[in-house]
Amino acid sequence: MSLSIIILAAGQGKRMRSRLPKVLHKLAGRTLLEHVYVSALQLNFREAHIVYGYGGRQVPETLAHLQAVNWVEQKKQLGTGHAVRQAIAHIPTVDDVLILYGDVPLITYQTLQRLVDAADETGFSLLTSYIDDPKGYGRIIRDGKGDVLRIVEEKDATDEESSVCEINTGMMTVKAKYLSRWLEELESNNRQGEFYLTDIVQKAVAEGISISTANPDAVSEIRGINDRVQLAEMERYYQLVQAHHLMRQGVTLMDPARFDLRGELEAGRDINIDVNVVLEGSISIGDDVTIGANCQIKDADIADGVVILPNCVIENAVIGERCRIGPFARIRPRTRLAKDVHIGNFVEVKNTEVASGSKINHLSYIGDAEIGKDTNIGAGTITCNYDGANKHKTIIGNDVHIGSDTQLIAPVKIGNGVTIGAGTTVTRDIEPNRLVHNKIEHREVKGWKRPKKKQE
Ligand code: UD1
Ligand code: MG
Repeated sequence: MSLSIIILAAGQGKRMRSRLPKVLHKLAGRTLLEHVYVSALQLNFREAHIVYGYGGRQVPETLAHLQAVNWVEQKKQLGTGHAVRQAIAHIPTVDDVLILYGDVPLITYQTLQRLVDAADETGFSLLTSYIDDPKGYGRIIRDGKGDVLRIVEEKDATDEESSVCEINTGMMTVKAKYLSRWLEELESNNRQGEFYLTDIVQKAVAEGISISTANPDAVSEIRGINDRVQLAEMERYYQLVQAHHLMRQGVTLMDPARFDLRGELEAGRDINIDVNVVLEGSISIGDDVTIGANCQIKDADIADGVVILPNCVIENAVIGERCRIGPFARIRPRTRLAKDVHIGNFVEVKNTEVASGSKINHLSYIGDAEIGKDTNIGAGTITCNYDGANKHKTIIGNDVHIGSDTQLIAPVKIGNGVTIGAGTTVTRDIEPNRLVHNKIEHREVKGWKRPKKKQE
């Protein structure tokens, strides 16, 4: 016997008031549906069938990278029972079926494993939870002995049934051979005119099949997202959980409420992160790294001892040991800085390798370049890498000193030990150890009268 998974993700999520299907909205940088999928992925299963509908191909196209997924379309959203019915034909009758919701992102794999295990003996388990405010959920109705009898949807519930605090999370494990039969028998004669998956509970009871229940470790695991307020609340909750985890690992966060990790962080010890830092994608940070306030860092590798001063934007870059970046620096994709490199304020670096000990400290644009060791690039230096049609490379050697306000017209190669005077436009390659400067005349006009604005 093996496990097949169905994830329901066809609903529009009306209350999101969005053109985007609800499950494609993001929590901590990842779609809601992927959160569910990633938890499920840790189980031992045969295949995951994801039921999509609202928004057409948008959901499968956006998440085409997910492995071991069979995308099943539900053309009209006629209820959870109808949604499961679309997928059941793809599932071998010997399997157990785990049913999940694409809009309940924080479900953990441990809870899912418990739910699957709970179905071992009975062939049918429900994930239920006790909550103080059960509004909106289906209620679990048990008999005098405590056995589950049925699930009643809130809209169909009597006042007495509404007062029950044990709710249906929607997640369940059922043997495929039962499920396929019960799905055929579902009817939509209820207040919402939908085919309720939950009606299979009564069918099981009628056949003398008892239903086991499992509970999540935390209520947050079973919370669904219905609108953007809940999405934001869950984002803050999730960020705080991540922040606490990082702090316990040895990362200092000046304010855990003003820290965002939207992806994966591999963190060393004694990292100090000031407020409003956003980390995205896949990030690794070594030991003894300091990150100033208001930095945005995406897909970066940051080595030990790096100091990033406030207001920097770094994307797809490798930052070597003890580099010092910012404040107000922009490190763009495919930049690699070796150790002890300094990148100062208002400097933009793109697709560039900088060897150890070199400095670009003020107001420069360095793109498509290779820079050697211990080279100093003066304020306002620009690599003119773009001729209006193509990009060209600038290669600068070791121990080069470039004066302020220099333009390097690429393609160009500057040899080791070259010195370039301030205000030079370099238009051709320079041999090592030369001094280069343009001939600039210093003119003075005595008693110069500034033009005046004409009176109307
Ligand atoms: C459902 C349960 C309710 C439970 C609650 C938990 C039923 C009848 N009710 O109610 O007992 O307490 O979830 O959140 O099952 N979906 C589809 N196709 C459809 C309808 C829904 O894929 O035709 C998907 C939705 O996208 C969503 C999930 O199924 O991910 C749940 O649907 P929703 O309409 O939110 O069900 P509820 O009324 O909340
Ligand atoms: Mg719902």
